[in-house]
Amino acid sequence: MLSAHVMAGMPGLPLVVSPQEDRTLEGLKRLSETASDEIVSHMQSVGAILFRGFDVQSAEQFQSFAAGLTEKFLDYRRGTSPRKKVAGQVYTSTEAPPRIPIALHCELAYVNHYPDRILFYCHTAPTERGETPICDMGKVYEAIDPRVRQRFEDRGIRIIQNIAAEKSWRSKRTWMDMFETDDKSHVEQYCEHEQIRWKWKPDGTLQLINERPAVVVHPVTGQKIWFNSAHNFHDSWSWEFRHVGLRGLSLISALAERFRRRRRSPEDFPIHCQYGDGGEIAGEDMSHIRQVLWNNAVLFPWEKGDVLLLDNLRVAHGRMPFKGERRILVAMGMSKSQPAALVG
Ligand SMILES: [Fe+2]
Repeated sequence: MLSAHVMAGMPGLPLVVSPQEDRTLEGLKRLSETASDEIVSHMQSVGAILFRGFDVQSAEQFQSFAAGLTEKFLDYRRGTSPRKKVAGQVYTSTEAPPRIPIALHCELAYVNHYPDRILFYCHTAPTERGETPICDMGKVYEAIDPRVRQRFEDRGIRIIQNIAAEKSWRSKRTWMDMFETDDKSHVEQYCEHEQIRWKWKPDGTLQLINERPAVVVHPVTGQKIWFNSAHNFHDSWSWEFRHVGLRGLSLISALAERFRRRRRSPEDFPIHCQYGDGGEIAGEDMSHIRQVLWNNAVLFPWEKGDVLLLDNLRVAHGRMPFKGERRILVAMGMSKSQPAALVG
């Protein structure tokens, strides 16, 4: 029987699982073997489980525990965040500069074959801030203005990416980094498989465009879930800085956005999101969605050795700016037993 409790002061998530007797890695792995059904059922009812107080000391130990909770690890192809592979299919959570916040998002929600669970491991806790905010996307769906929601549900979204072949001050991640290959035919095969339209531009830039639903029905709970990354891809994404007090950065980015819009067509922006039919999404709708996401964010400080398991369909995650060293590792997986989400 699993001993789990809701963290004090938190609105239902995450559920915390702590050791009753055996706090060793072996004890944790035994727990994931003997109580795996209970863990999955808690994950599906709450969306987030925090394993705290266990002795997990390395990326390899994290991966061996994660292997008990996910049937197939996924790599990070087409991911937008700069990351490093640490061991097997364990990555650093992001290499983005410490002062930059990462907006709440469900991992790889913009591809057809996304992970249905994601695990984080705290190897080194930051000395100041650096939380991984989490957010119930079922609640977000309910909280979004029904008129805004309906537009997204009716029209879906279109994701646009123009990924450079070389690193520069503007782009820290090339298409080779993103696809973990320099073989164009591998990229093209992936795009075929994921139903993404691609184009190689004369300067070597790779353009990707694909459509996704904005809302899905959770295959287990039947709940409607706001499952899209429109706010991360929309050209106004850097407005996110306002929500964590970086108003100066937000202003500079807004000016750069205006400049970009005058000089290029939206299909040539580094990243952008439109409605699925190619119509532009109003800036105030994006602002409203960002506000709802932050209103529903749950924050708790990391402790060394923590492992956080999220239902990636139901619970989004992000990153707060931080000071000091911070090493949070991540693994993504897919369960064979979980049916694909239904398109809303
Ligand atoms: Fe992420």
